[in-house]
Amino acid sequence: MNAQTGTPAAPARIGSVSTGAALELRGVQKMFGALAAIADVTMTVASGERRAVLGSNGAGKTTLFNCVTGDFLPTSGTIRLFGEDVTTFPAHERVRRGLRRTYQISLLFGGLTVADNVYLACRGVSRARFSMLRPRQGDTLLSRAEELIEAVNLTDASSTMVANLSYGQQRQLEIALALAGAPRLILFDEPAAGLSPTERGELVRLLTNLPEHIGYVIIEHDMDVALRVAESVTMMHNGTVFKEGTPEEIENDAEVQELYLGDGHG
Ligand SMILES: Nc1ncnc2c1ncn2[C@@H]1O[C@H](COP(=O)(O)OP(=O)(O)OP(=O)(O)O)[C@@H](O)[C@H]1O
Ligand SMILES: [Mg+2]
Repeated sequence: MNAQTGTPAAPARIGSVSTGAALELRGVQKMFGALAAIADVTMTVASGERRAVLGSNGAGKTTLFNCVTGDFLPTSGTIRLFGEDVTTFPAHERVRRGLRRTYQISLLFGGLTVADNVYLACRGVSRARFSMLRPRQGDTLLSRAEELIEAVNLTDASSTMVANLSYGQQRQLEIALALAGAPRLILFDEPAAGLSPTERGELVRLLTNLPEHIGYVIIEHDMDVALRVAESVTMMHNGTVFKEGTPEEIENDAEVQELYLGDGHG
């Protein structure tokens, strides 16, 4: 995978206006028994757009991600990725189309080094993964893995076992894994949770410096982080979209302040 073949042609992006949607949800609902974790969500994320999803505990944010990634099948509604209806597609078919995610709870291989984890992620999304003739391909993947490790500031920890990384370093590694292959849309589930202020600053820098064609949706309780890394915000409440706007609009919205900022999350 090199920069030429690995980077998909991105639609033109002018501010938050784009020629194509990365993600379109229409009337998405997810029931758990009688509970509507997602009640009726309709939202569109443009290609290359950076969106924050806010909302108190239990608002349905992670469930929404699970429906988008294919971890859960929605009870009703449709999900389109890059214009294609993927509502019933298995997760790996969505990954093939450029969707990535990080989890609220880490799923890393603790018994491997940083370098091994990233290399395996690169190999996993490489089309040549079943090839028996790997020397050349292996070299390319190795240098791509090194680039990703550097991008997330883990070069010094490259040969450290994942189990020995700090919590913040583990989150950085997860981002490197999400960047393997050719992501076009990444879903980050609370990447700043548990990070020190310094690590939060690094995370903000990393996210804002991602290549322009990579869009993301970030669930984040830390308003300071969310509003700095997003150009648009969706506020969820009780499984529905409560409000959408620019970070400034959301920050200054009286109803949002009452509902969210006032209850200890700010
Ligand atoms: N697998 C599941 N089975 C049953 N109920 C679930 C399941 N996953 C989530 N829920 C419920 O759905 C609702 C939404 O949960 P979800 O995890 O999506 O919230 P969230 O907005 O991500 O919250 P948090 O900020 O705490 O991560 C909650 O009431 C939760 O208990
Ligand atoms: Mg959650």
